[in-house]
Amino acid sequence: MGLSIIILAAGQGTRMRSNLPKVLQPLAGKPLLAHVLATADELAADDVCVVYGHGGEAVKAAFPAANLRWALQARRLGTGHAVQQAMPETPVANQVLILAGDVPLLTSATLKRLLAETPPKQMAVLTVDMDDPTGYGRIVREHGSVHSIVEQKDASVEQQTLTEINTGVILAPGDKLKGWLAKLGNNNSQGEYYLTDVIAMAVADGIEVHGIKADSSEEVMGINDKKQLAEAERALQARLVDELMTQGVGFADPARVDIRGTLKCGKDVFIDVNAVFEGDVELGDGSRIESNNLIRNSKVGAGTIVHSNCHIEGATTGRACEIGPFARLRPGAELANNVKVGNFVEIKKSTVADGSKVNHLTYIGDTEIGKGVNVGAGTITCNYDGANKHKTKIGDGAFIGSGVELVAPVEIGAGATIGAGSTITRNAPDGALTLERSKQKSIEGWTKPTKKGSD
Ligand code: UD1
Ligand code: CA
Repeated sequence: MGLSIIILAAGQGTRMRSNLPKVLQPLAGKPLLAHVLATADELAADDVCVVYGHGGEAVKAAFPAANLRWALQARRLGTGHAVQQAMPETPVANQVLILAGDVPLLTSATLKRLLAETPPKQMAVLTVDMDDPTGYGRIVREHGSVHSIVEQKDASVEQQTLTEINTGVILAPGDKLKGWLAKLGNNNSQGEYYLTDVIAMAVADGIEVHGIKADSSEEVMGINDKKQLAEAERALQARLVDELMTQGVGFADPARVDIRGTLKCGKDVFIDVNAVFEGDVELGDGSRIESNNLIRNSKVGAGTIVHSNCHIEGATTGRACEIGPFARLRPGAELANNVKVGNFVEIKKSTVADGSKVNHLTYIGDTEIGKGVNVGAGTITCNYDGANKHKTKIGDGAFIGSGVELVAPVEIGAGATIGAGSTITRNAPDGALTLERSKQKSIEGWTKPTKKGSD
């Protein structure tokens, strides 16, 4: 039987007190809705439809993927009304799974279990037991099966003591669902069209409704405000770090690391405290990330050490490199093997070949550095003339003295030595010592200025 997924995301999210629509609030670096869509993706549905409303255009724009359907709920008249907006184009022969856009921690494993445990043409509700069920719809069971769902505001005192609640995830046969939705009324305490009322309709039609329990209330938590967002962030981080530790990654403190994207690690990787990983990051076998590093969309090679306090973005390193402390690798920084980049060095859109060292206080931009090069302290590649960027090439085995400016476009030959303090504006030949300095002079009889008397 085919599967259609409808994701409810028309809520206003007023309690976020934000200009950003609720489902676009970031969790582990991705919008809340992106997590739900990723989970939906793992279920390989025929069809996924997002019901949007408030701030809808921004939500749509954030997910330009073609294989999504969007249904506008212009007025927010309740969850039943929201699902109804998605029904006209939903293939009714399918099972329809309804998810909420603000429940990001739900796993595909739980949903697969729900799908597997519900025979075709029957119905299921994902439930959970809560210590404090206040505010949620309560699951009313009879002879084990779900009989109805009653909302907090409509529940009797006795029903309010029930601790099994509706997570909002409902599975129903499409054709039946369509019929029930059409019959929904809004005669309840909130004047809303409740999706949950279809449960009693199903039971009346002789359809069995399975109440399937989620393993933890954390997994099904809905995000309504910044406190819950932060809580979900910690829970998700713990989950991500847990998976990595299972794979053998070492952490100095599993609670002091943040993964906002995908972190792939080899064997024997060690990560110290306060490392933040964003986007797609790969850490090779035996690499070490010391404290306080931000690494975004980058690859760190096997055996490489990133010392404390580096900022690394869009960069790659080969094997056994040493980066930092306090280094900045910007997009297009490509280091080969055994490269050293030391403190207060910035490298942008440049390649550094095997065994080269750029150890102190240096800017390298739009540059090709050969093998075994030593770049002295305080070297600057002057790559920008105010209008255009130009390239610098430094040949294998060259030695650049301290405090050198290389004014691009310029090439330094293999094995060349550039004298400290030079401003190099023309190509320097292979093997030679090139320097550009005025002659040093000492002026005899020169007298130091003296301090003027105060008046
Ligand atoms: C709903 C359920 C309740 C359940 C709870 C779980 C109903 C009537 N009640 O309650 O049983 O315990 O979720 O969190 O279904 N939405 C729309 N359009 C609307 C209304 C809601 O798209 O007109 C979306 C929201 O954006 C949200 C989801 O539906 O993603 C749930 O809405 P919410 O208002 O949080 O539901 P509750 O009334 O709290
Ligand atoms: Ca509500």
